[in-house]
This record gives sequence, C-alpha cells and structure tokens, in this order.
Amino acid sequence: MKKEDKGCCTIPSLKEVYQAYFPIGAAIEVVNVERYSDLLKKHFNAMTLENSLKWPNIHPGKDDYRFEPADRLVDFAMSHGMRIHGHTLVWYAMGTPEWVYYAEDGAMASRELLLERMQEHIHTVVGRYKGKVAAWDVVNEAIENTDNGRQYHDGEYLQIIGPDYIKKAFQFAHEADPDALLFYNEYQIEFSIKRGKTLRMLKEFREEGIPIHGIGIQSHETLDVPSLGELRDAIETFAALGLKIHISELDLSVYPYRDTTCLYKGLTPELLERQAVRYGELFKVFREYRDVIYGVTFWGAADDHTWLDHGIRRTWPFLFDDDLKPKPAFWSVAQF
Ligand code: XIL
Repeated sequence: MKKEDKGCCTIPSLKEVYQAYFPIGAAIEVVNVERYSDLLKKHFNAMTLENSLKWPNIHPGKDDYRFEPADRLVDFAMSHGMRIHGHTLVWYAMGTPEWVYYAEDGAMASRELLLERMQEHIHTVVGRYKGKVAAWDVVNEAIENTDNGRQYHDGEYLQIIGPDYIKKAFQFAHEADPDALLFYNEYQIEFSIKRGKTLRMLKEFREEGIPIHGIGIQSHETLDVPSLGELRDAIETFAALGLKIHISELDLSVYPYRDTTCLYKGLTPELLERQAVRYGELFKVFREYRDVIYGVTFWGAADDHTWLDHGIRRTWPFLFDDDLKPKPAFWSVAQF
C-alpha cells in the first residue's frame, strides 16, 4: 500500500498489523468516545481509562462513588473487544483526594484508618469491574524521582502508613479480584538511578510473594530521550524478574517539556519526519521484546487530545493528527 492517506477505512489497522506481537491500546476519556469511535474500533484492541478510575473522580467523597463515566468506557471497550486496563488505585499525586488523609475530627488519619480506606476503595472499585478489567495499575509513581538518596516519594501514604502501603495495596487488589493482573506503574525508569530504586522494590516484592505480575513503563518520550539502549536495559531488567512489561502511557512530544518555542515554530515537516523515525525505532525495540511485552498503550489516540498540551502549547505526540488522519509516524509503525 502506498504511504498516503486513503481515509480511515483503507489504511492498515494497527491492531491487525500487531496481532502477532501485542495489543495496541489508547488511554481514553469519556468525552472523546464518540469522536474517536471509528478510530478506536479500527486500530485499538486495548483501552486504559485516562482519568475515570482515578480516586478523585470515581470516589470524591467518603460515601460518594461516581461510576458512570468509567461504566460507559468499560461498556464501550467490552462491546468492541478491547482489553481493559484499570488506572490507577493508589497514587499520591492527582490520585487521592484530601479527605482520605483526615479523620472525621479533622486530625490526620491513623495508619489503621488510612489502610482501612485504601482497602475499602480498592475492594469497591476492583470488585465492581471484576471480570471486565483485565489488569490494574495498583500503585502509580511511588518511587522518588530526584536523586536525593530517598527510595520513596515522600507523601501522606508514606508518612502515615510507611513504605508497606505499596505492598498492602497489591494485597487488597488481589483479594478483590484474584484473576486480575496487577501492575506497578512508573515514569522515567529507563534512567539508571530510578530504575535501580524500582528494581530494589520489585525484587523485595518477589522475595516476599507480593501478588504482582507486571510493570508499566510509562514512556512519555521526546525525540531524543530515553536512548534505545536505556529502553532495552529497562525492559530486560524488569523482565528478568519475571514481570510482564506494559508500555503504558506512550506519547512522543516533538518539543521537550517546558520548551515554548513550539508556540512560534509549530509542527514542521522536519519534526514530523524525526518523529516518524523515532516511533519506528521504538516499535522495532518493542517488537523484539514481544515475548515479554503485555501491550503498548498510547496516552491518548490523536493529537487533538493530550495531557501534554496546555493552553496554546502544542506537542503533537501521536500517530494520528487533529483530524484523526495518519501522520508519517503512523506509517513507520504500521509498515516494517
Ligand atoms: C494525566 C491525564 O492525562 C490528565 O488528563 C490529568 O489531568 C492528569 O493525569 N502519568 C500518569 C497519568 O500516570 O495518570 C497522567 O494522566 C499522566 C502522567
């Protein structure tokens, strides 16, 4: 087939091209389901819920659960044969509303109370989607990112419960759905210091028999980093522990984070080409490791919706453009 856009119906389907390799996923918000419907049905056989399962959205108040957006996404994914990935149960950042950390009298929650709340939350959410959500990002981003000697990010979970909050979360999720695959999800673990810290934690989990089946390498990429060598090292390091590897939040910004020159330079043909080359290289590595790769999931589907864009800042990180048409990067992923 010629490398040109013949419209959504005649171009190759990514999920078919990758059938013998791994599922191709997209992180989706309920507001985009209709607009992306044809694109999703044609190219994607896995879905992560971008925000609808996060604690503040699904469980904003103590006795207040709001399942509707997640239910709709789960129904859509199920009716189109997409494997569903649950993101995420415990996360210090945008993952936990303030009330969770405080007792009824306004004092800081005790270890027992916070554990009890975590367990209730995990049992309720995982229990509701049991048999539908195949795998969960049980804990997100718990490792300290800066090189300050600390192993764990210093937040309320760590302060109130201690580092075993991570293990407890996996145990609670396993209790709620013994058949679900459980993942630890993290960013920038291609880089050696953070990779080492993460490895130390996961080795301990393995030795202690904590129920964990995989690791999500988020993969928010730029045109230059991480190197392919770093990516390979990360895949091999975690696969050696017997963990499945989920490329869990792939996007490839053509401008690095905080680079505002995008505002006047825009998306040039040169950048489109460099993005295509880099996407081609990344997928070549993913294909090489297909035996251990659980799936490759983009953190979105098309350039018109990405968490990387703020206001008028644009990053154009995906294979499909604002009109859902394939970009040069699509072809280097779909044809090899
Ligand atoms: C982001 C969503 O894409 C945004 O819509 C939301 O406002 C904030 O969270 N790492 C993660 C994801 O694990 O949950 C984040 O998703 C992106 C970074």
